[in-house]
Amino acid sequence: MSQNLAMGKHSSALILALMALLLLLFISACTTVEPQETPSVDPQNSVERVPLRVLAERKGFGIGAAATLGPIRKDENYRRILSEEFNQLVTENEMKFQRLQPEQGRFDFSKADEIVEFARSRDMRVFGHTLVWQRGLADWLKAGDWTREELLELLHDHIDTVVSHYRGKVYAWDVVNEALAPDASLRDLIWLRGIGPEYIDLSFKWAREADPQAHLFYNEYDGSGWGKSAQLKVDALYNLLTGLLERGVPLDGVGLQMHIGLDKPPSYEGLKQTLERLSGLGIEIQITETDIRLGNSSDSLPKKLAQQAKVYGDLIRACLDVERCSGFWFWGVTDRYTWVNGITGTPEDPLIFDRFYQPKPAYDAIARELKKSA
Ligand code: G3I
Repeated sequence: MSQNLAMGKHSSALILALMALLLLLFISACTTVEPQETPSVDPQNSVERVPLRVLAERKGFGIGAAATLGPIRKDENYRRILSEEFNQLVTENEMKFQRLQPEQGRFDFSKADEIVEFARSRDMRVFGHTLVWQRGLADWLKAGDWTREELLELLHDHIDTVVSHYRGKVYAWDVVNEALAPDASLRDLIWLRGIGPEYIDLSFKWAREADPQAHLFYNEYDGSGWGKSAQLKVDALYNLLTGLLERGVPLDGVGLQMHIGLDKPPSYEGLKQTLERLSGLGIEIQITETDIRLGNSSDSLPKKLAQQAKVYGDLIRACLDVERCSGFWFWGVTDRYTWVNGITGTPEDPLIFDRFYQPKPAYDAIARELKKSA
């Protein structure tokens, strides 16, 4: 009998153990475990989204991203997001002076050509960045002791060769980039010192001669008119553009760069006012080079991401609400490769796709505004 009792005890323990195991299996089947990191894009996820470029194209709007050749060559997720989500590609570095003319008179288009071919094969239009800039210059050019005539010839030759090479393939050029100093005077750079202020007029003239169809832009940072000192910059920008137009310089558009942080972002109203003022010049406008750093405040990450989404939404809405604002670009595709990683040394996550290619709240904000305005 005691043997039966012991056996009975054992079987009940066994049954209990089995039931507990079943319960555990049932609970784990019902529970969705959130992955800590998503190493690559879930293709289903991206299929369900209406891509930004589809939303943008409903109103003929340009939605762009700066891209570089490294990840285009090696990263399938990067390539796919870039071409699925954006209809405009901006060359982040490959069309800068030093890359295209590493030695005097020797042009190397191989890398830039590869990017242009990538974009064209995916029906993306190319925005060429940039013909004339104080940075990105070749060492041979910086080291030379040039006369005015020589500098005129060098600048003309560079613009003519590059723009002619891409005639019909590059839809718009940043002809002159960041010619204004923070104090709103003309920036002290090799072309200003050697040629004088007319280097700006001439650059546009030569670009027009090399490709009469390309849209020619002047691109500037801190030109969106928020904060006290930025008003100085936006006034200087307005005056510079007015002067160019009055002198008959072939200027088609202005780009306003947006490398900003959450600490002092421009407001919707402030930006819209600036855009309306610039619209009065009768030229096209694009919001260019946008990235919004999360900064180092003590706010939680979800809170910062929500703030970032709000600022992204405000900026694109201001552009969408002004008729002459024809495009909006991000300075990069994903937080994985942003240039900001290299300068602040801390994760600033300034873009709309995270390091694992997942769309962030900022992506949803951009999509929402595009949908509303379509
Ligand atoms: O590719 C070389 C690599 O081979 C080399 O080993 C390495 C060593 O420094 O340098 C690499 O090149 C760097 C390049 O970015 C690619 O990462 C350059 O040094 C670095 O100067 C370059 O920085 C770029 C910067 O412009 C200067 O050209 C940034 O990526 C680019 O995002 C930034 O973009 C500018 C816009 O053109 C104009 N407006 C402001 C914006 C941000 O500064």
